[in-house]
Amino acid sequence: MKIGILGTGDVGRALGTGFVKHGHEVKIGSREAGNEKAEAWRSAAGDKASTGTFADAAAFGDVIIVATAWHGTENALHLAGTDHFAGKPVIDTTNPLDFSTGAPQLAVGHTTSAGEEVQKWLPGAHVVKAFNHVGNQHMVDPQFPGGPPTMLIAGNDAGAKDTVKDILKQFGWETVDVGGIEGARYLEPLAMLWILHYFQTKNGNHAFKLLQK
Ligand SMILES: NC(=O)c1ccc[n+]([C@@H]2O[C@H](COP(=O)([O-])OP(=O)(O)OC[C@H]3O[C@@H](n4cnc5c(N)ncnc54)[C@H](OP(=O)(O)O)[C@@H]3O)[C@@H](O)[C@H]2O)c1
Repeated sequence: MKIGILGTGDVGRALGTGFVKHGHEVKIGSREAGNEKAEAWRSAAGDKASTGTFADAAAFGDVIIVATAWHGTENALHLAGTDHFAGKPVIDTTNPLDFSTGAPQLAVGHTTSAGEEVQKWLPGAHVVKAFNHVGNQHMVDPQFPGGPPTMLIAGNDAGAKDTVKDILKQFGWETVDVGGIEGARYLEPLAMLWILHYFQTKNGNHAFKLLQK
């Protein structure tokens, strides 16, 4: 598949490397072409990797990943050109973090979520919340003694969720579908729990698993 990634941060580059490793073509976009982190990533990632603007990445992707800082996400989608998202699966990895008082807090919750806001900003897209409740270092091929961790996903379109489930299977995850995009209201606080544990343990070597019988 062709994957367009909006975001040159740790998440964009980790997922970009993972998609290339699993045989996909990836274009990472940023506000301005020639972004230093994106270019360094491209040099290391090989022939299937390319870079450009947010708009270049969104136009390129059959599947688009949103991996931007929350405060810049609406702007990033605007710069990317909302028409480029129409009818496509869009994976929203963002957490609506507000750092204004020091430790991160959720900027939205209870009555909406980042996932729902992204879906409102991209009405023609099929937004699926995923990858938000694990650290970037374990997003692809996670290795834990207890076996594959569980990625909880939420989104309104069954076809887009099937695409995301296929990606997650390829990346070595179990997937649990929690329903419509409003489920992001629960997946984003779950990320806060992941972050709290990160601050307590000072490492990111944890992921959630749902046990079922
Ligand atoms: N870090 C993790 O392990 C992790 C795990 C799960 C979820 N998340 C979530 O994933 C998202 C990405 O996190 P990250 O740590 O990889 O990177 P980040 O530093 O949060 O975001 C970097 C990206 O945001 C863009 N950006 C910043 N301000 C902007 C603005 N005003 N307008 C448009 N774009 C703007 C940057 O654009 P340029 O490329 O142009 O600089 C860059 O591409 C966040 O929402 C985060 O909460 C992170």
